[in-house]
Amino acid sequence: MNAEVKSGQNQATLELQNVSRSYGDEWSQEHIIADFSLTVESNKLTVLVGPSGCGKSTLVNLIAGFDKPDSGKILLNGKQVTGPGQDRMVVFQETALMPWQTTRQNVVFGPKLRGERSDADIDAEANRLLDKVGLAEFKDKYPIQLSGGMQRRAELARAMINHPLIMIMDEPFRGLDAMSRELMQEFFVRLYEENRRTNLFVTSEIEEAIFLADRLVVLSNRPTSVRKVIDITLPRPRDFHMLSSTEAYEYKREAMELLHEEAMRSFNRASGSGLMDAIAGGGGGD
Ligand SMILES: Nc1ncnc2c1ncn2[C@@H]1O[C@H](COP(=O)(O)OP(=O)(O)OP(=O)(O)O)[C@@H](O)[C@H]1O
Ligand SMILES: [Mg+2]
Repeated sequence: MNAEVKSGQNQATLELQNVSRSYGDEWSQEHIIADFSLTVESNKLTVLVGPSGCGKSTLVNLIAGFDKPDSGKILLNGKQVTGPGQDRMVVFQETALMPWQTTRQNVVFGPKLRGERSDADIDAEANRLLDKVGLAEFKDKYPIQLSGGMQRRAELARAMINHPLIMIMDEPFRGLDAMSRELMQEFFVRLYEENRRTNLFVTSEIEEAIFLADRLVVLSNRPTSVRKVIDITLPRPRDFHMLSSTEAYEYKREAMELLHEEAMRSFNRASGSGLMDAIAGGGGGD
């Protein structure tokens, strides 16, 4: 375990207590998140996996403080989240790099604006982070000169230089081709294993979730709540070969079964038919 963790710095426990969020007016309310409770443990990588549209980004927005729950509480180290803050950094799927600034300028922008550290200190850390994410040669290039994968790596460096208590990643690798995605997962898992900063990672890809996670949180369909938390005990440092182990296969099977059940449940609700029962042999008529 690394020194940061041992010294007790960067301890960050995030608690979601019976969080609910609906959209719409009183006539056509849509319950997106319902009674959602979860503890995101300090210095662990927690991955939320759930189908598209189940409410993952809604949840991220609540945790980031961009939106407020209708009921329930979100606490970071015991303190209620009431709005956005530097203690939580979010990396989204869409790039948020400023196109008129170079990669390096994008990375140092936040800390230099706040002026809490010396410029020399910030520049040195930016260089170190950009080297780590494989952008050594691209520090002085503009975002448009970077590939999609490189832009995501620059975003990672830009978030990490702020030393947030918790990093929140909302499908940051979605839309990348398979090779770039795999590369990103490796870069990301190395960064995580180095500093073990509390991380909440959202994805709809089960293999990505298992490769990265210490704890895998399988979400239910809408209204979204926690279906099951699975501890992933694959050793670290992780490598892709581990995904072919019996252990990884078992995690995958369990997560897929749960997600399949959730999908069928919502299909049944939507269609009003007893498809689940029919498949189970209980819904057959004459
Ligand atoms: N501001 C809003 N107003 C009304 N409805 C919203 C709002 N934000 C989200 N929704 C609805 O909430 C539901 C969940 O959306 P959300 O983006 O959280 O899902 P998601 O799991 O992140 O999906 P994806 O996998 O596509 O990213 C959707 O049906 C969406 O239409
Ligand atoms: Mg989303």
